[in-house]
Amino acid sequence: MRLDGAVVVVTGASSGIGRATARELVGAGALVGLLGRDAAALGEVAAELPPARAVAVPVDVVDAASVARAADVVTERFGPVEGWVNCAGVALFGTVLDTPPEQTRRVLEVNVGGCVHGARVALPTMMQRGHGVLVNVSSVLGVVPAPHLTAYSMSKSAVRTLSAGLRSELRRARTRGAHVCTVLPGAVDTPIWSVSANHTGRRVRPPPPVATPERVARTIVARLRRPRAETVAGGPAVRLLVFAHRLAPGPVERLLGLVVGRWSLHGHGPGPTSGALWEPAHDG
Ligand SMILES: NC(=O)c1ccc[n+]([C@@H]2O[C@H](COP(=O)([O-])OP(=O)(O)OC[C@H]3O[C@@H](n4cnc5c(N)ncnc54)[C@H](OP(=O)(O)O)[C@@H]3O)[C@@H](O)[C@H]2O)c1
Repeated sequence: MRLDGAVVVVTGASSGIGRATARELVGAGALVGLLGRDAAALGEVAAELPPARAVAVPVDVVDAASVARAADVVTERFGPVEGWVNCAGVALFGTVLDTPPEQTRRVLEVNVGGCVHGARVALPTMMQRGHGVLVNVSSVLGVVPAPHLTAYSMSKSAVRTLSAGLRSELRRARTRGAHVCTVLPGAVDTPIWSVSANHTGRRVRPPPPVATPERVARTIVARLRRPRAETVAGGPAVRLLVFAHRLAPGPVERLLGLVVGRWSLHGHGPGPTSGALWEPAHDG
């Protein structure tokens, strides 16, 4: 897809990877709809961009009707949506047994439900026009699950399957020109780590190698330009992890478990917290 003048919606645009993706897109000449819950944070992102090229629309992606209305706002302002990046997401640290089930459910509602709502709004227009790309942001944890991150891994695995299922639905509908891609980042240096729900009693930090949000944003933008089913983002070590898991899932899952237990969880943390699950949170 040519990005110069293209209309692209980015969910989760108020922070981290989504924010970097919005910047990268505007740099490439796209007109961008910025979606997220935190109106003030979205306003800050919009203020950094040329006003004629970005519109901020506060929305909770769990609310399907609001996502549809947000797409209408972007379409009225810029024209039909040609690219849609489902980047909004939340994280939760804690075992399934130690985590209140409503928090596990909320992770699935935001991370998976949000992608479903985005797809249901974006794809019909793309199919009708025979032109467009939907990018769903999953995670390498959607391939390799890790202890204390089961709810998150489960949600990201579902995002991967959602993309694969949508691709087969597009094939069945004999639609040409509309594409669905999954991007699977490794650890990325964003606020998600400090604003995650946490039931471990420990502090959390990303395990190395840690990519910058800009690096992942470039991969997302590359998929909008040249769609491909699945792309691991974050460097050769992350690609190696995914490849090794195909050959020897058990040992790789044990290794990642050790890395999470010995590196990512450290020191003494706060008491149980729901982090950014229901409300926007800001890291200190
Ligand atoms: N950072 C990593 O290590 C990493 C690795 C692999 C994959 N990912 C994935 O990359 C994506 C972006 O994460 P990030 O690291 O950039 O985290 P981040 O900095 O915390 O950004 C998350 C974004 O999602 C938005 N969001 C959360 N809940 C929402 C809701 N219910 N409705 C609308 N927007 C919502 C947040 O905005 P508001 O708070 O304003 O709503 C924020 O803009 C996520 O899907 C994450 O799972 C991250």
